[in-house]
Amino acid sequence: MRPDGRPNGPNRPEAARVFFALWPDSTTLDRLDRAAVDAAARFGGRASQRETQHLTLAFLGDVALDRLPALHEAAGRVVSPAFAFSLDRLGFWRHNRLLWAGCGRAEPALVSLVHCLVGELQALGAKVDGSGRPFVPHVTLVRNVRENPLELPALSAVRWQCRDFVLVRSRLSARGAAYETLGRWPLQR
Ligand code: 2AM
Repeated sequence: MRPDGRPNGPNRPEAARVFFALWPDSTTLDRLDRAAVDAAARFGGRASQRETQHLTLAFLGDVALDRLPALHEAAGRVVSPAFAFSLDRLGFWRHNRLLWAGCGRAEPALVSLVHCLVGELQALGAKVDGSGRPFVPHVTLVRNVRENPLELPALSAVRWQCRDFVLVRSRLSARGAAYETLGRWPLQR
């Protein structure tokens, strides 16, 4: 069986749907949760669950299970300082009806972490979704937003201190995605 419960096709190796992310500490989660609940009340849609809020650094999608150790090794080669940044604005993407918290100005240390991580992954031959497009740091707050927000309210800045990054496995079901942390790597102090 595949991780999402669908049967394996012929010769299809067992795979996991994975991505690298920043995972907020509990104070940051509380603030993001409040912003998500407020935005869903205002615009309709499904607020992200508090404990699943994250910022994706690199989305890989389905990766054969026997390739996961190579991802751990690539992550271990990332050299990047710990940093703090602020999520200080809301954004909305009409094409996938996501409302998100993002940055007015992307923190250079965050951009350089993504650059370094994606470089290590590509050196393995891994395909990173969206790596040809500019990186837009965001935390999805609400999915399936019902109304097109004509004007987005201000977001009172959510300060986030990043000390590590994680590799996460996502399992999809009718109830949404369930996430499992497969590995965690510290940022340098
Ligand atoms: P999103 O919140 O904007 O949907 C797990 O799906 C995480 O990976 C989410 O944060 C999701 O971003 C992100 N992601 C990036 N590219 C993706 C893709 N092609 N398919 C699914 N999720 C993707």
